[in-house]
Amino acid sequence: MAEAPPGAPVRVGVLISGRGSNMMSLVERADGYEVVLVASDRPEAPGLAWAAARGLPTFALSPRGIGKPAYETAMLEELVRYDVQVVALAGYMRLLTPAFIGTMRGNIVNIHPSLLPLYKGLDTHARALAAGDRVAGCSVHLVTDELDAGRVLGRAEVPVEPGDTPDRLAARVLAAEHSLYPRVLSEYCRR
Ligand code: GRF
Repeated sequence: MAEAPPGAPVRVGVLISGRGSNMMSLVERADGYEVVLVASDRPEAPGLAWAAARGLPTFALSPRGIGKPAYETAMLEELVRYDVQVVALAGYMRLLTPAFIGTMRGNIVNIHPSLLPLYKGLDTHARALAAGDRVAGCSVHLVTDELDAGRVLGRAEVPVEPGDTPDRLAARVLAAEHSLYPRVLSEYCRR
């Protein structure tokens, strides 16, 4: 992967699978880094259209039919084409292989909607409510071969309110995600 000239913003590629609200926040609050590519495993991901409308380069490829190795190879080629130095996962719903992570030299970050190490994986808000937690939140972490287990770079807490449903809690956590992710990515890129 490319090295940045000293002082230049770090070149970030964002991977999404859906609406892309975290990607939008990363684009709009970029500081010390620059989003140079938005890519997706789902050509119909709504976030892609938003990025394209902003004039950002986009890339979409479904692994369906071609298999994971060919899919990841093509994705990596695109990241190299744009000299991407750091990959930010933002609602990207696929596991990356150790080969992909190794090619990026571990420079991959993710946002997860729980206070890690609590509630790795899916349905985080329903699990937090079922456990009777009074505090929920989100975490930005490094991506490793183990799901949601890499070093935590930053977390934000939000209160659980009486009568919360998973959707209500998710909306409150999502607002916190939109502040946390650009701030932590900026710190990571300045390290
Ligand atoms: C966010 O809650 C993120 O933490 C999780 O998936 C959701 C993606 O939302 N990994 P968006 O696509 O960024 O709006």
